[in-house]
Parts: sequence; C-alpha cells; structure tokens
Amino acid sequence: MGTIVRIAIIGFMGSGKSTVGKALSRKLGFSFIDLDAWIEKEEEKTIKEIFKDSNEDYFRRVETKLLKNVSGRKKVVVATGGGIIERKKNRDLLRDNFYVIYLEAPLEILYTRIKGDSKRPKLKLGEKGVRELFRRRLPLYKSVSNTIVSIEGKTPLNIVEQITGNLRDLRNENL
Ligand code: S3P
Repeated sequence: MGTIVRIAIIGFMGSGKSTVGKALSRKLGFSFIDLDAWIEKEEEKTIKEIFKDSNEDYFRRVETKLLKNVSGRKKVVVATGGGIIERKKNRDLLRDNFYVIYLEAPLEILYTRIKGDSKRPKLKLGEKGVRELFRRRLPLYKSVSNTIVSIEGKTPLNIVEQITGNLRDLRNENL
C-alpha cells in the first residue's frame, strides 16, 4: 500500500465516528470532514428535515455526491454517516480511494448511546428494526474496511492512539 492520504471512518450510529475522526485528523495534521454536517450545510436543512421533506433516497444521493467530492482530496479524514455502506457506489468509492477504518461495537452498547436521540431518523425503526439494520449492515462495513477497531471499553483518545499506532506500523512495513 502506498502512503495513506485519505482516511474514512465508518461504523454504525453511535460508534463515535465524528469524535474519533476529528481527533485523528488533528493528530495526523489532516483536514477533517464530517459528511453528515456537510450534507446539512449543503441542503440548509437538518438530516431529520431532509428525510421528512424529501426522502432517504434523496439523502443518499447527496451523500454519494459529497463522498465522491472527498475522494479527490488529499490529507483528509472523513467521518461518514452510519448508512454510507448502503449504496454499492459508496462502497466502491470507499474501497478504491480511502484507507477505511471500521469502528466496531456490539449493538447493545451503541443502542444505549443512541436511543432517545430525536435527530436520527433511522431510530424510528424501533429497537427490533435497528437490530435488523445492524445485522444487515455488519458484513457491508467489513467488506470495505482496511482495519477494524473495537471501541469497547476505550476512550476516543485510546482509539486514536491505537489507529495512529497501526498507521505507524504500516508505514514501517513499507520502508
Ligand atoms: C444514518 C446515520 C446517520 C445519518 C443519517 C442516516 C444511518 O449518521 O447519516 O441519520 O442510516 O445509519 P450517524 O451514524 O452519524 O448517526
């Protein structure tokens, strides 16, 4: 693998993608893009409003457009939304252009963190629906990831240190 210039953080809702992505970008001296925040800015609406006024498919189209845009940038860490792996186009973009880090945790931990959050439209599916979504998405996350990092029992700082350690090892292997 050549030098890593573009990193994507993926994972289910509540896995801490934005927090970890931002801290990681600082540590690497890369810029940081939060894809969900960018979509909201671009559309001048919250994600909840986009889902309500348009629909999920429309949201996914904007998501793909912006992911494609990031795919041409250098020295960037992007935190994605939990559904980024739903579209094949996005999976291809991730595989082809990014070093992909999957933040993994059991659903029990994630669900405790996200339940009651009124900003996430997918929670309307209810606990059973969210569990099904999680199960269906697991292999998709894995299919695009270069590395899987368990977040269980770790602070964002622990996670970032583990990632930078992995990246350092990779670099040394390539010397
Ligand atoms: C979604 C996850 C959200 C956001 C949107 C859809 C999903 O991002 O992109 O609500 O389909 O899982 P987070 O993973 O940051 O909550």
